[in-house]
Amino acid sequence: MTQTDVADVVIIGSGIAALVAADRLSRDLNVIVITKSKKEDSNSSYAQGGVAAAFSRCDHWRNHFIDTMIAGNDHNSEEAVQTLVQKGPILLRKMIDQGMKFDKDDQGNVVLGQEGAHGKRRILHAGGDATGRALVQFMLNRLKSTVQIVEDEMAVDLLVKDQQCFGVKVRTNSGKLKNLYAKNTILAAGGCGGLFLFTSNDVTITGDGMAMAYRAGADLVDLEFVQFHPTMLYVNGDVKGLISEAVRGEGAILVTNSGKRLMDGVHPQKDLAPRDVVSREINQAVLRGEQVFLDISMIDDFPSRFPTITQMCEQYGIRIDDGRIPVVPGAHFHMGGVEVNQQGQTSVENLYAIGEVACTGVHGANRLASNSLLEGIVFANELANHLLCNRHHVKMFEIPIDSSMTIRESKRSVLPTKDQIRALMMKYTGIVRTEEGLNFAKRWLEQFLPNEYVTISEDLSEDEIIIVNMLQASWLITTSALMREESRGGHFRADYPFEKNEWGKRKLIRNLASHVYATH
Ligand code: SIN
Repeated sequence: MTQTDVADVVIIGSGIAALVAADRLSRDLNVIVITKSKKEDSNSSYAQGGVAAAFSRCDHWRNHFIDTMIAGNDHNSEEAVQTLVQKGPILLRKMIDQGMKFDKDDQGNVVLGQEGAHGKRRILHAGGDATGRALVQFMLNRLKSTVQIVEDEMAVDLLVKDQQCFGVKVRTNSGKLKNLYAKNTILAAGGCGGLFLFTSNDVTITGDGMAMAYRAGADLVDLEFVQFHPTMLYVNGDVKGLISEAVRGEGAILVTNSGKRLMDGVHPQKDLAPRDVVSREINQAVLRGEQVFLDISMIDDFPSRFPTITQMCEQYGIRIDDGRIPVVPGAHFHMGGVEVNQQGQTSVENLYAIGEVACTGVHGANRLASNSLLEGIVFANELANHLLCNRHHVKMFEIPIDSSMTIRESKRSVLPTKDQIRALMMKYTGIVRTEEGLNFAKRWLEQFLPNEYVTISEDLSEDEIIIVNMLQASWLITTSALMREESRGGHFRADYPFEKNEWGKRKLIRNLASHVYATH
């Protein structure tokens, strides 16, 4: 193996951040994208809500900045938020010029929707409630002839030596392990919704990126902040998909089976209160034995405004004409992740992270609606600018002769099922947490993790590798949740309610967390 066999860039994942980075970089560099399933299978494809940006004349990026900071409980990195809200509109206009079609009114103006905790109408949609799918398809079309996208191959571990990343170990669909060497490795593997029983995420999103980064010695931060979306379609004891917040933006209200308005007297923004507030209220009602519905009877023309949701409801026997959709909350978005700066640089040299797996601090403790596709687009561009400007300065590495050197000894132990992990996480590390519950979850997870640095051995099947990743990612989130002895945004501790917050301590806690997960 020589340096000529080394790709310039390997990107792990195929969501919007991965595709935007691939598009920018492939004009000058040789780029490979790998995904463990099909290229369209990502949370980005599922995104119904849209992309937030200060587009209208009566809006300004400063308003978007303030709304993002308030939603994030002031735990955000102000610099990252500023980059997001200032560069977002510019990059979206560029995409429109390149041919991306957002929904327009009869006069040809982009239609701007309303969502929770946004002070202005600023959500761009495509295909009504199919924005993510439209964006992903738009990017895939652009990449057709420039980028090699490898499907059904799973990234197993990052190749790291002396705190320097030189590619990724991959499991092919025939079960063989191979090394893919790269000068720059970009983790864009998504978040962690699949660790929880109820989730809006694609089933493939199981915290793999977080677990891999941890094994590679990268710093992780803010892992306790998990956002639960209040309204997942709930049928026969299971969740079937997301009912976009845009539905409440158009006037839908949450009611209980007795017809009582759920959010009355709970929060000034009522049904459009921050997601953690609404999710907790629904959770409480469900624990009291009530069922919660979205009353959509006041929305004219629901099927044409929300075609994806209408089709999903009909598929599961819920009639839109009845005007009520049964809902429960589900894990939706991970605010924490691999600690990065605005250029996506991690604490490991030549390893970058973008999209939901990364934590720039832009979302703080709770993400504002429709800021995630925007984050993917903006910070993928920031990373691309950085790599393109520095492409001649990549520190070259020696490819080790023994390609199996990163696989350390690991014992095959009895593993739990994915559903056992999901049920545990939902109950103890979910919407409402306590020290007792978190300690129980941590101990339960630890019985399957012989030590916290368990590594992946060659003889594990793909499913077993995913379960080990789920165990490690769950352990990281649970441990972080135990460390944060306060309630803030997506992290609610019943034993530390909001009024006990020690606001001044937030950075310290954040720094402590990153040190705990530093290099081993
Ligand atoms: C939604 O459509 O409610 C989800 C959009 C988002 O999470 O940003």
